[in-house]
Amino acid sequence: MASARTCLLSFLLICIPTFALALDDHQRASSPLHPTKSISHSPRSAPSEGYYNPLSNGGSMLTFVDGTFPPGQGEPLNIIISGNSDEAVLVDQETDGGLRNYWLSFDYAGECLGQHAGSQQAANLGDGNGILNETDEIRYDYNDAQLGTCTETIEGGGHFRYWIQNGAKANSGAIFMASSYELPLTDGHDIVSNGYNLGRDWIIGNITQTNIPTLNLTNSSTYSGTTSYGGYTYSTSVKYVSGLLNNTSIGINHNITVQTSSSNATDGLVAVLEVKITEKPANSGDHLVPFLGWPLPLILFIALHPFLAP
Ligand SMILES: *[C@@H]1O[C@H](CO)[C@@H](O)[C@H](O)[C@H]1NC(C)=O
Ligand SMILES: *[C@@H]1O[C@H](CO)[C@@H](O)[C@H](O)[C@H]1NC(C)=O
Ligand SMILES: *[C@@H]1O[C@H](CO)[C@@H](O)[C@H](O)[C@H]1NC(C)=O
Ligand SMILES: *[C@@H]1O[C@H](CO)[C@@H](O)[C@H](O)[C@H]1NC(C)=O
Ligand SMILES: *[C@@H]1O[C@H](CO)[C@@H](O)[C@H](O)[C@H]1NC(C)=O
Ligand SMILES: *[C@@H]1O[C@H](CO)[C@@H](O)[C@H](O)[C@H]1NC(C)=O
Ligand SMILES: *[C@@H]1O[C@H](CO)[C@@H](O)[C@H](O)[C@H]1NC(C)=O
Ligand SMILES: *[C@@H]1O[C@H](CO)[C@@H](O)[C@H](O)[C@H]1NC(C)=O
Repeated sequence: MASARTCLLSFLLICIPTFALALDDHQRASSPLHPTKSISHSPRSAPSEGYYNPLSNGGSMLTFVDGTFPPGQGEPLNIIISGNSDEAVLVDQETDGGLRNYWLSFDYAGECLGQHAGSQQAANLGDGNGILNETDEIRYDYNDAQLGTCTETIEGGGHFRYWIQNGAKANSGAIFMASSYELPLTDGHDIVSNGYNLGRDWIIGNITQTNIPTLNLTNSSTYSGTTSYGGYTYSTSVKYVSGLLNNTSIGINHNITVQTSSSNATDGLVAVLEVKITEKPANSGDHLVPFLGWPLPLILFIALHPFLAP
């Protein structure tokens, strides 16, 4: 009993500052006024590739990370959700089959109860918005949409940060994701060996229910698959593309531990996903209220936690 209580308490201390914070964050995430997002007033239009190459307009396919050694290292933006995907998928929301519902369809969800455990990174997608902090960080949810990302925060696993290419100079609407697979929190959330390429390919593997042969990929590799959540079914076509990133370890964050004898820290390939909605719920437009599905004792415990004697 005592140890169960200690365990639950330490879980809460790590994951849950307050109910209010989680709610606040939920609102923030869907607010167009969040400072890490820019509102674009030019009409969206994606070229046939589905995105604009950030390098063509002063941007970069590597993120900006504070305090790297040596300074100036970044992490690869190694997945792009094409601007030629269905309009609904490109909207950053969980309702109406939006981006966050798509991520849930392959078990990736917002951070542990809205708390941000990792450090912020920034990126310049060459769309005229300049360098922006990440829109959000999304984690593998261990098949538990409500609490699974708390497990990921503690035990490590797949995660990604993302940015939306929507500035006036290159408004494709494409989503750029920096994905990787990290070690547990106790190890300081370093990236596992080959963790950028594997982080990318495990996401693609989960979307397509295929084991992706990371070391054999080329710029002609393609995959496809379907995933579902909340009554929406998504059909995803994946194309691995070269020329956006270099095949190198130089300038890549954690390159010494991430590179292997058979692979550079980044292999130079970006997975480009075109996503179409093939099925919708009969009465789409339902809004899920967060916390409603939680067990009552947990809600009470969280609500009363500050008032309980130690
Ligand atoms: C961006 O993130 C950094 C921390 O890495 C923070 O100091 C800064 O305030 C953030 N900027 C905005 C506009 O949110
Ligand atoms: C799905 O994701 C999990 C967690 O990242 C990973 O362990 C697993 O290998 C992935 N599955 C495939 C088929 O890639
Ligand atoms: C990768 O290619 C090599 C050589 O063509 C082959 O022997 C190996 O089975 C392939 N591995 C995978 C996982 O497809
Ligand atoms: C694919 O990669 C090869 C080098 O491995 C390169 O010569 C070729 O131009 C690339 N093709 C495309 C379409 O990027
Ligand atoms: C690849 O590296 C070369 C030489 O360092 C650099 O000029 C080029 O911009 C890099 N390309 C990409 C796509 O980062
Ligand atoms: C890693 O990249 C360098 C260029 O930076 C290249 O010479 C080397 O062959 C690559 N190694 C592997 C294992 O791909
Ligand atoms: C890692 O990147 C730095 C530049 O940021 C470079 O000086 C160093 O040689 C790279 N290390 C490896 C193992 O590639
Ligand atoms: C990266 O470069 C190495 C060395 O040239 C090569 O063996 C490997 O196939 C390249 N990787 C990709 C994905 O093109």
